[in-house]
This record gives sequence, C-alpha cells and structure tokens, in this order.
Amino acid sequence: MKKDLVSLSTFTRKEIEGLLSTAGAMKKAPYAYRPLADKTAALIFEKQSLRTHVSFAVGVTQLGGHSVFLSQQHIGLATRESVEDIAEVLSRYNDLIVARTVLHETIAGLGRAASVPVINALSDLLHPCQILADALTMQERGVLSERTKVVFIGDGNNVVNSWLEFAEKIPLHFVLACPEGYEPDAAILAQARASGVSNIEVVHDPLEAAEGAGVLYTDVWVSMGQEEEKAARQKAFQGFQINERAIKAAGPRCLIMHCLPAHRGEEITEEAMASPQSVIMDEAENRLHVQKAVMSYLVAGAATSGPAAEQLLASAAN
Ligand code: CP
Ligand code: NVA
Repeated sequence: MKKDLVSLSTFTRKEIEGLLSTAGAMKKAPYAYRPLADKTAALIFEKQSLRTHVSFAVGVTQLGGHSVFLSQQHIGLATRESVEDIAEVLSRYNDLIVARTVLHETIAGLGRAASVPVINALSDLLHPCQILADALTMQERGVLSERTKVVFIGDGNNVVNSWLEFAEKIPLHFVLACPEGYEPDAAILAQARASGVSNIEVVHDPLEAAEGAGVLYTDVWVSMGQEEEKAARQKAFQGFQINERAIKAAGPRCLIMHCLPAHRGEEITEEAMASPQSVIMDEAENRLHVQKAVMSYLVAGAATSGPAAEQLLASAAN
C-alpha cells in the first residue's frame, strides 16, 4: 500500500529518525542515489513558494527524475476540476504528487484519491517538510534532544502544529510563546500532550519563555491567506519578536531559527537574522536533503535506518 506524508502523525519515531539519517547521508553525496530515474513528480502549488518549489524540483532532478510544475492557474484544483479527479488523473502519469494547498482538506483529499504517494508541501494546518528540515538542522548542531528548550515566539500556526506532531514522536522540550487567541490547533496540541513523549508548554510572555532557550524559532505574524487579518495581527503580535533582548535572555549558545520568508522588523530583527547564532540558511538548504529522503522512502521504499542509509549511498556510489 502506498504511503503519504500529509501529516507527521502517520510516521513512527523510527521512520522519522531514519529519514533524518538518510537525509544526512544524501547531503554528503547528493548525486549518489537515483531512485527516481525515469520517474516523474507533479508539483501542485495553490500558493506562492520559493524554497519548497525549488527544493522539490531540484531534489527530484538529483534523484534522477523529472518534475512537472502545476500552479492553481494551470489546473484549477477544486474549481475547474474536482480534487479527486485531478488526483486520479495525475496518478496515471506520475509516480508522486507534491502539493501546497490553501485548505488542509484539499491535501488530505489528494492523499485519499491518489494511487501514488502524496507529500504535503504546506497547508493552512501543517508544514511537515519544514519541521523535518529544522530537525535535521538541530541534529547537525547536536541539539535535537529533550534537554534543549525550543522556544517558538509567534503564531500557533501551521509550522507550530507540525512541530507539535513531531514532538508527539520525538522527545523535545517545546515552548510556544504566543499572544492569547493565537494558540495552535487544539486537537493537535491535546494529542501531542497526551502522547507524553515531549514536554510541551504554551505561554504568553516571550521574554520569560526565551530564558535558557537552546533554540529561538519564529515565523511570520501573517501567514499566506491571512492578509485580511494583517492589521489586527500586527497589533496582537507586538513584542513577539526574536530580538536582542530575547537572544540575551536565551544566552550566547542559543540557535536562531526561522522557516522563511522573513519580515525583518516584525517577527525578527535584522540583527537577529544576521547573527552568527543564526542557522536560518541551513534550514533552507536542509529542505532539499530531507525532502529527497522523504521522496526516496515513499516512492522507492528506500531504507530509512541509519547504517542502512549510509550503506545504500555507499553502494550507489560504487
Ligand atoms: N519555508 C517555506 O516553505 O518557504 P516557501 O514558502 O518559500 O516555500
Ligand atoms: N506560516 C507561513 C509559513 C510559510 C513557509 C505561511 O503559512 O505562510
């Protein structure tokens, strides 16, 4: 049976650790393994994207395959044609569907109707590929551990929801500092807490939260599709910023993370972006490596355990 990555909740801890390990191996040897040779991926984007679009297209090429870019203007997902019909037709031509959708129900519907694997490239609810890239970035710095306090300052949005789904599987100390009324999805939060895997806090004072943080993370105050709420959000999020005071509260070893795009002067200052503590561009790069691991796993069943992944790449290189 085919497997999708619509949500991290359908992955086990072992699978996630395996994907991170494979991604690390692929980063060292980007062209060594080509499980998508003669295969094609459809890339559907209902919303704007830089990193996700380019890293999936480049990743498919590095794995030996070809991608077809389909914007909402091209295909009219759920407007010109039903989600189900589009999923079935694309499954007849392609080996994989990657989609960024406005509504989470659209990506879920694609997953249900397609006979090939479907990968969530961001929905209004979740952004799983981003969190895998962030986890790889933390792992590279030796801080992917429940001993590290990860403090997300900002909106309880799609990125936070995926952090919570990740925390349901991998032990973390995750603290969200958000304004009241901007908490994450209640069901996802409850499920992550109920799993008992991670220490999860939701608080409303960003500077207090930043004390002792090993990672300070943020995202835009106004996500794509929330433009009408811009004025209210800009007011509500005042002070929910990675800035000198937050970094000072966290300490000199704290990493600064942001999924990008950034709005300097809102959720993060120019100085924080440019700080030597910033690993923001590593996160952007790691989108490529983790997504290659995910595609290899879903399409070709590539090994996801650590040594197996290393062996796979070593044998491909010989
Ligand atoms: N972080 C991220 O998903 O970037 P894009 O919106 O540019 O793809
Ligand atoms: N929360 C942001 C993430 C962008 C990568 C958005 O949905 O617009």
